Amino acid sequence: MAAYATIFFTLVFQLVTLGSANKWEVAWQSSDINLIPPLPIAAPKSSNTQCREDSIRLIEALGNETLWAEQMWDASAKAPVGIISGSRYQMGDFDECLDVQVPVEAQYCLMDVKIKVPPGHNTTDPHMLYYDPNGSLWDKMYYRGSPFKIRIDEAKWALCVPASCSGEDIVSSIQDHLASINYTKITVNISPRMCSVKNRYYDQYFTSDIIFW
Ligand SMILES: *[C@@H]1O[C@H](CO)[C@@H](O)[C@H](O)[C@H]1NC(C)=O
Ligand SMILES: *[C@@H]1O[C@H](CO)[C@@H](O)[C@H](O)[C@H]1NC(C)=O
Ligand SMILES: *[C@@H]1O[C@H](CO)[C@@H](O)[C@H](O)[C@H]1NC(C)=O
Ligand SMILES: *[C@@H]1O[C@H](CO)[C@@H](O)[C@H](O)[C@H]1NC(C)=O
Repeated sequence: MAAYATIFFTLVFQLVTLGSANKWEVAWQSSDINLIPPLPIAAPKSSNTQCREDSIRLIEALGNETLWAEQMWDASAKAPVGIISGSRYQMGDFDECLDVQVPVEAQYCLMDVKIKVPPGHNTTDPHMLYYDPNGSLWDKMYYRGSPFKIRIDEAKWALCVPASCSGEDIVSSIQDHLASINYTKITVNISPRMCSVKNRYYDQYFTSDIIFW
């Protein structure tokens, strides 16, 4: 009990000495605190009519917490976890995503995210294993082609998006969003083979089984 009270008063004291709680809130809201910020899962400006309509429907349904839409958002990666220690796959939830079939059919895509290291971080020894914890994140993030270094500037990012939208539709929606928040730390790409809809692979196996036998 006493320990909790001490922690509580320490926190309150720190908030007071910082001037105001607003500084904390600003920090959490800032997209700068995430290496990869939350990204849109819809393309409401797509030239593909079905994708555009499904996207608008999805955004409206997210606005009033409709279950199928929340499920698509819940199944998508939001903020990365473990990137610095080499967790490249931010997997979201595949089954939860593909469970959404009506009124919008969902597809699960694993997007390629490349984190852009700012210039000036190519000075350390490529074979270095120790990084100064007081130094810059980007010294560790910078990849020098060393086979001994785990590449941590690339990630696979799960998005649960309308099946009617192509990878390009989603990528261009994400690029518009990143431009609107002035976010330049990442580039994104979706390769078509990295998207799945429900039962697609079963269908393929089925066809090849018939040909085989
Ligand atoms: C959300 O809004 C839509 C359109 O206004 C409405 O049809 C739907 O019933 C609402 N859903 C919930 C869960 O409130
Ligand atoms: C680091 O990059 C700069 C240009 O961005 C280049 O001029 C310099 O030679 C590089 N240094 C090393 C050690 O690779
Ligand atoms: C990092 O900074 C802290 C506080 O300035 C210092 O106590 C610590 O020794 C530093 N660590 C290293 C590895 O330089
Ligand atoms: C983005 O940058 C432009 C130009 O520097 C600025 O006018 C605008 O307010 C910025 N937008 C945001 C959301 O920070």
